Amino acid sequence: RSVKVFSPATVANVACGFDVIGLALEGVGDEMELRLSDQPGVRITSIEGAELPLEASQNVAGVALAALLQEYGKPGTGIEIAIKKHIHPGSGIGSSAASAAGAVVGGNILLDNYFSTDALVRFAMEGERLACGTPHADNVAPAILGGFTLVRSYQPLDVIKLHTPQDLWVTVIHPQIEVKTSDARGILKQQVLLKDAIRQWGNVGALVSGLYTEDYNLISRALEDVIVEPIRSILIPAFHDLKIRCKEAGALGGGISGSGPSVFMLSKGENNARSVAAMMENIYAPLGVDYRIYVSRI
Ligand code: HSE
Repeated sequence: RSVKVFSPATVANVACGFDVIGLALEGVGDEMELRLSDQPGVRITSIEGAELPLEASQNVAGVALAALLQEYGKPGTGIEIAIKKHIHPGSGIGSSAASAAGAVVGGNILLDNYFSTDALVRFAMEGERLACGTPHADNVAPAILGGFTLVRSYQPLDVIKLHTPQDLWVTVIHPQIEVKTSDARGILKQQVLLKDAIRQWGNVGALVSGLYTEDYNLISRALEDVIVEPIRSILIPAFHDLKIRCKEAGALGGGISGSGPSVFMLSKGENNARSVAAMMENIYAPLGVDYRIYVSRI
């Protein structure tokens, strides 16, 4: 018996929601195929599209699936997985999360949906722990639940699926430079000023409200990050140009996708999202940095 899974790319943080808000791209993601095997444990049979370890204990999909099997508690159970990566590792659109999330979702189907989605998020977070040292959930949660998600609490884990407005699109530019999540986390300050915290949680509340009421104007006002972006944006070529000119081209707003180097912009409707893509191209083409652009409904 085998199962095929599509596992979406994701944008973590979504401006004001560092480590708590994430969204999934409907049309961009990895594919994988899983099957039950007589050989106990996890075996990765192939990886296409990226150079990643086949050794299960060194691979985020393998580690996430091993966490699932451990809690399943039947030592004879074995799962084989073949992975096709379309999301570049290190791109900032949740490559490791897609591997981990797809693996546990597929594994759970093979086990007749033994686990809840909350448990699947928990297992997939083990993949993130391997990838960057911190088991953050703002990529794996939207990869598993779809649309927008919010991590209300990490301990205990409390993940909420949010409403996604009908006509909300995302445009992402991935400059082909490497920014390691562990490095991008390492440069952050561990303390925030109260005045910044006030502004940030005002924006988080407003973003959630804007999503539910489908108030695109409010979403636009809420897409602001006064805590993490000022520090991380120095790692991304032409970041401020992108922010200003993509808004002129019709974007509601945006920011760094996850820990970068990708930058995302939200737009109302596909036409705006494609104008934003064209603007990103105008800004990046002269820079001499290779890049990819993705346009997707959320
Ligand atoms: N919330 C995480 C971070 C996402 O920004 O470090 C990493 O993709």
